[in-house]
Amino acid sequence: MTRISYLNGEFIDHDKAFVHIEDRGFQFADAVYEGIAFFNGKILDLGPHMVRLKRSLSELSIQFDVEGSNLEAAMEKLIARNDLSEGFIYLQISRGRAPRNYAFPNPPVKPTVVLTVSPLDMKAIQERQKNGVKIILVEENRWSRPDIKSTSLLGNILAKEAAWQADAYEAVYVDRDGFVTEGTSSNIWMITRDDILLTRKTDGAILAGVTRGSMMKAVSGVEQRRFTREELLAAKAAFLTGTTTFVMPVVQIDGEKIGDEKPGPLLEKLVKIYADYIKAETGFGG
Ligand code: PDD
Repeated sequence: MTRISYLNGEFIDHDKAFVHIEDRGFQFADAVYEGIAFFNGKILDLGPHMVRLKRSLSELSIQFDVEGSNLEAAMEKLIARNDLSEGFIYLQISRGRAPRNYAFPNPPVKPTVVLTVSPLDMKAIQERQKNGVKIILVEENRWSRPDIKSTSLLGNILAKEAAWQADAYEAVYVDRDGFVTEGTSSNIWMITRDDILLTRKTDGAILAGVTRGSMMKAVSGVEQRRFTREELLAAKAAFLTGTTTFVMPVVQIDGEKIGDEKPGPLLEKLVKIYADYIKAETGFGG
């Protein structure tokens, strides 16, 4: 079956989906994106993803009419055209094509809109959830606006590569003051020795994760505050959240065990809460 992608209103052969060499997304990473999951062909958390997309566009003054562009219908069509049941939608909007110039094109040009879908390996995700993952801690190496979901991800990819080289699943950032921010593509949470569930406030230093938001609603009494590297290392348990990460137990940080060898009942419960949420929203799961 031919893989189909979406480019500027058209559904085309994925292998023939090209963007111009002077697209500002290509030259400057002058673009925003969303990563959205679907299950049983149903898009999860579309509302919050669209709210965040609009905010990212607005923060960068990219003029694009999200409401008027019928992205939802395009996504649904793309899922159907690729005959996928569970998967990941990548949505990217760049400022568009213009001669290379740092300042915005004036008048504005038409933004470039890209959608792709790819399968989600649910088996691999569930296996990882069962065993837990290793993470490493790294110094913040990103620009000062990680709250904007921009494609400017050089810092993130360098840190993720360092994690993979260290046989870890994720690299989690620690800021200059010793406070934990987030993973390269996930948010991080911890459970204190006295059973307080903690995650950082959306204070500008992290992305407001949609999975984080859904878990916040599903679990009561979450405390939102910064925590230090030392607090994390002394935690009873820790986990990551993200669209392709789901709720992912952490069992090792920088080579040190955290909690038990395998995710304990607390983490199993949180994994199940998110699985139940997906089931309630989309009907997917056992
Ligand atoms: N990552 N923090 C960063 C830096 C991210 O890139 C992501 C998402 C998250 C989690 O956000 P959400 O729950 O909305 O996916 C936090 C990509 C899209 C991913 O993991 O799929």
